[in-house]
Amino acid sequence: MNLIEKLNWRYATKRMTGEKISEQELETILETIRLTPTAYGLQPYKIIVTDNKDLLDEIYKKSCPQIVINQCSHLLIFKANKKLDEDYMEGYLKELKRARNETEEYVDSYRSKIQRVIENPTINKFSWMMRQTYIALGFAMFAAAELGIDCTPIEGFNVQAMNELLELDTDKEEAVVLLTLGYRDTSTDHLVDKPKVRKPMEKLVERR
Ligand SMILES: Cc1cc2nc3c(=O)[nH]c(=O)nc-3n(C[C@H](O)[C@H](O)[C@H](O)COP(=O)(O)O)c2cc1C
Repeated sequence: MNLIEKLNWRYATKRMTGEKISEQELETILETIRLTPTAYGLQPYKIIVTDNKDLLDEIYKKSCPQIVINQCSHLLIFKANKKLDEDYMEGYLKELKRARNETEEYVDSYRSKIQRVIENPTINKFSWMMRQTYIALGFAMFAAAELGIDCTPIEGFNVQAMNELLELDTDKEEAVVLLTLGYRDTSTDHLVDKPKVRKPMEKLVERR
């Protein structure tokens, strides 16, 4: 399949078989997330990966009663940072300096650029960090399609219940979006083989 065929093949899967994806495939999807670009490279999020049946069942019961939660191979829970504190930024700048062997002057000017965003009162920081998280979600879905693995992006869950269940420190981070990984159950998923519903190109793209 070429790229567009793969993107037509993928869909938000409603029913999965429970079959496991391989550890190698999981790692490829996680590495894709790790390589996802973010504003200034800050990656202001983390991902919890689980295939623990008890935890998945609790998530299903307390936060996300969508059947696919109990049928997936793995669930990814994307958590966004609530704050970008100095420790976080300095940790990143230290790594930037090390990885690229940058000068102190370069790092100082990069720090100033980041501070312009962080200290800008008109920018909602959590919203900004959540937006970065969605880029990683998109990359993960794309990687899954490339590997022939099904997935379901899920925003329809009780965030507060999820935060509590995962014992997150909500001053620092919050669950934002979920992604199931697994294989479609072609016999029970009513969306298998349904055509895509998308705007025609001319309503989506303006060429100027
Ligand atoms: C951020 C996001 C959140 C979504 N949340 C849910 C959800 O909670 N449950 C669900 O069944 N589908 C969910 N979807 C799936 C969308 O409804 C689906 O992607 C869209 O209708 C396009 O269809 P397709 O992905 O099958 O091509 C979500 C999709 C995205 C991108």
